[in-house]
Amino acid sequence: MTHQVPTAETATSDIPGKPTSASRTTLSHIMTHNDTNLLGTVHGGVIMKLVDDAAGAVAGRHSGGPAVTASMDEMVFLEPVRVGDLVHVKAQVNWTGRTSMEVGVRVLAERWNESTPPSQVGSAYLVFAAVDADGKPRAVPPVVPETERDKRRYQEAQIRRTHRLARRRAIKELREKRAAEGIED
Ligand SMILES: CC(C)(COP(=O)(O)OP(=O)(O)OC[C@H]1O[C@@H](n2cnc3c(N)ncnc32)[C@H](O)[C@@H]1OP(=O)(O)O)[C@@H](O)C(=O)NCCC(=O)NCCS
Repeated sequence: MTHQVPTAETATSDIPGKPTSASRTTLSHIMTHNDTNLLGTVHGGVIMKLVDDAAGAVAGRHSGGPAVTASMDEMVFLEPVRVGDLVHVKAQVNWTGRTSMEVGVRVLAERWNESTPPSQVGSAYLVFAAVDADGKPRAVPPVVPETERDKRRYQEAQIRRTHRLARRRAIKELREKRAAEGIED
């Protein structure tokens, strides 16, 4: 299977393409005692909200209007985040379909009052659907990856998209088969 990366010339859509850099966003936040779990480190849900917020801003900017979270997957927590950490949530559109976008997010943390370099503490991939005023999916501009890193992320996002669709289809088929056999659960 080939994973073709569109350019401004080859993007096939009535809507002009938009470069990745046009919507790339960083959201930064200092963690306080309000953000902790029972162990005293930062609650994973606090990080997930920041991830969803940053990704939502990117999806809205790229699509030029409202966009809703359709799925969030591969949320990975690599290191605990602590009170006093300055957390940076970096998000960009990795891939676009007709009405959906995959947004990739990297979470970095550094001590708020030290000049040591930030380290990566997490990452996630989210799918957003652009919606109209009635909440119905609407077409998005094709993303045009710029750097080699953007192109690699586009190709990897296509692989994830293929797997998401295949998994959804396989589960749907299994449920239909069980229902057709009269199995109730
Ligand atoms: C997301 C939503 C708009 C999709 O609506 P739908 O009627 O199923 O529309 P479609 O099947 O045409 O899907 C629209 C696009 O989203 C993609 N999509 C939908 N569900 C998806 C999922 N679970 N995972 C990945 N992509 C998904 C589709 O593949 C399609 O992409 P494409 O046009 O680029 O091929 C709808 O399910 C919704 O409004 N969900 C609630 C969103 C929300 O409230 N989020 C906040 C949660 S607190």
